Amino acid sequence: MGDFDDMSIKIIVLASGRGSNFEAIYNSCKKGEIDGEIIGVFSDKLDAEVLKKAEKNRIYNEAIVSKTFKNKVDYEKALLDTINSFDYDLICLAGYMKVLGKTFLEGAKSKIMNIHPSLLPAFQGLKAQKQAVDYGVKYSGCTVHFVDEGLDTGPIIAQEVVEVYDDDTEESLSKRIIKKEHKLYSEVISDYQKGYIDLVGNKVKILREK
Ligand code: GRF
Repeated sequence: MGDFDDMSIKIIVLASGRGSNFEAIYNSCKKGEIDGEIIGVFSDKLDAEVLKKAEKNRIYNEAIVSKTFKNKVDYEKALLDTINSFDYDLICLAGYMKVLGKTFLEGAKSKIMNIHPSLLPAFQGLKAQKQAVDYGVKYSGCTVHFVDEGLDTGPIIAQEVVEVYDDDTEESLSKRIIKKEHKLYSEVISDYQKGYIDLVGNKVKILREK
């Protein structure tokens, strides 16, 4: 706790797609809502939109294409070699479509966070918003959590609730959830930078007044 009390936080983003969470974090840094900066964006997909968005904002970006490696261990070693040549304080997964394994988790120099579009532990994995609509839950939302070896299973840091309406579709619910995601992820990163996030065992305490 308190690792970055007087220090701006250096963030690495891993993403596979559109990159709206990347943009939200980038904008929060620019506006000073996060005392920090994104120093690199890495994708497992060559043509990921997020790489173009990083390029446009002159942020170092690179595709390390998972399918060109023999296996997951080799891919993660290559990813680590590149990422660990940077000086960073936090890795943020933002729509990164791979489940990280032991090689990466043990080799990373910082904590790793992820954002997921449901109230975990409900609706882990792909198409969480569709799962929520299909199930008929009345509330869903989004979760920021620390990453462990499971699929969306690590310690929960923060959650935001979104009401599910009777006529919601996957698309309409996704639109409302993503707005909350953008806000929540930046708030959590800022809290982390300020040293407010305390992980004890598998539980997170937020050490600030609400
Ligand atoms: C988000 O819904 C996030 O929760 C999930 O993947 C989506 C990524 O969207 N893990 P974007 O690429 O940040 O726009």
